[in-house]
Amino acid sequence: VGGVPRVVTLSELASHNKKNDAWIAIRGIVFNVTRYMDFHPGGIDELMRGVGKDATKLFESVHAWVNYQSILQKCVVGRLSRGSASGT
Ligand code: HEM
Repeated sequence: VGGVPRVVTLSELASHNKKNDAWIAIRGIVFNVTRYMDFHPGGIDELMRGVGKDATKLFESVHAWVNYQSILQKCVVGRLSRGSASGT
C-alpha cells in the first residue's frame, strides 16, 4: 500500500477483461485478480463472470461472506470512478 489511490474508469476496467489480464471492481475498489485466477475455489469460469466489471452485486449474490479485502489485499489497483451510469 501507500500513495494516493489511483482512480480507475469503467472503460479502463472493461479493458482488463481477460484471464491473463483480469480486473474486477467490488464495492468501489478495483482489484487485479489475474494472479488469483488459478486459486479461486469456484473456478476460473465463475470468476471470469465478474471480470472487467463492477461485480459487486454478482459477488454478493454468490458469496457475500467471502473476505475478498483480505485475500486481495496486495491486488488493489485503485478505486472505481463514480461517473456516468454503468451496467451494474
Ligand atoms: C467460491 C463464484 C469472485 C473467493 C465460489 C463459488 C462460486 C463462486 C460459484 C462456489 C464454488 C463451490 O462451492 O464449488 C464467483 C463469482 C465471482 C467470484 C461469479 C465474480 C464476482 C470471487 C472473488 C473472490 C472469491 C473476487 C475473492 C477474492 C471465493 C472463495 C470461495 C469462492 C474464498 C470459497 C467460499 C466458501 O467455500 O465459502 N465463488 N466468485 N470469489 N469464491 Fe468466488
